[in-house]
Amino acid sequence: ARVLGIEGTAWNFSAAVFDEDLVCLESSPYVPPHGGIHPREAAQHHAAVAADVIGKVLEKAGPEIDAVAFSIGPGLGPSLRTAATAARSLALKFGVPLIGVNHCVAHVEIGRWYTKFADPIVLYASGANTQVLGFLNGRYRIFGETLDIGLGNALDKFARSHDLPHPGGPIIEEMAKKGSYLPLPYTVKGMDLAFSGLMSAAKEATARGESMEDVCCGFQETAFAMCVEVTERALAHTGKDEVILVGGVGANSRLQEMLKIMCEERGARFMAPPRVYMGDNGAMIAYTGKIMLEAGSTIAVADSMVNPGFRSDQVEVTWRSDAGK
Ligand code: ATP
Ligand code: FE2
Repeated sequence: ARVLGIEGTAWNFSAAVFDEDLVCLESSPYVPPHGGIHPREAAQHHAAVAADVIGKVLEKAGPEIDAVAFSIGPGLGPSLRTAATAARSLALKFGVPLIGVNHCVAHVEIGRWYTKFADPIVLYASGANTQVLGFLNGRYRIFGETLDIGLGNALDKFARSHDLPHPGGPIIEEMAKKGSYLPLPYTVKGMDLAFSGLMSAAKEATARGESMEDVCCGFQETAFAMCVEVTERALAHTGKDEVILVGGVGANSRLQEMLKIMCEERGARFMAPPRVYMGDNGAMIAYTGKIMLEAGSTIAVADSMVNPGFRSDQVEVTWRSDAGK
């Protein structure tokens, strides 16, 4: 099947066509002139670029499309609604089924597709989300997650407090390379994580004169060690032996390195997909839409309301026949 996928939950408006492999992918990121992502402005950006981005993809892939998939949630309401409107009109125009894809599950599925890992523990670290997931009895179960803000948002907010442009994550990664480790508060509660205390402590550290490089290094080492600890415990509890890293923060090479070391020590395999598939992208929606279509998971236009609070474990995974372990 050949599926058009549309992603627009937050900062990136992106469309792709997936068939046996990725056919084409086009993206138009929203870059805020200052500050963070403003939901209404992001939605206005999406509305302005939608026709161009989708037009380019359809021009390359041709008009033969078997279904239209879109991110139905979670995400920012105005952005979600804009992308959903585009998807509904295209499904009606082509007379093909519509598929509502959970954005978090799509991050997981594109990671599984790229790595070919059958049944991994997934560290999904992005702007708004930080979750450790694994497949069990028909769903992606959330073994642990952030109790306050996502790791990416913590990095972005800290960067913004120092007047650095959005997104701050990649800038902090560069600064951290020049710094040395500064201890900062480490918060893991059972299998869950919290980042806002760490972010405040990092702000206080620079305010009392610690170097930005050292604070960035301490921030990364602390936050990433927290994520690795929970990921390791999920491996131990489930007996799974593969780990993948997905989500925008997954682009960070230090986080990749730390997970790799942990996995080597435990005899587990570790892989991360390339950057294009890490952050928000249309390919993950097109691909997940394709496997959902093949499993019969389509929705009627009348039932395709977006769900800004849609959780990964609310999705019935109809396209996996294995039980997981
Ligand atoms: P979600 O809706 O899944 O929470 P999102 O809309 O935040 O995702 P993503 O593209 O998955 O979007 O993630 C964006 C985040 O990734 C931003 O917070 C950004 O700072 C962070 N990020 C990108 N590159 C890096 C990097 N090299 N190191 C750390 N963080 C990074
Ligand atoms: Fe995302």
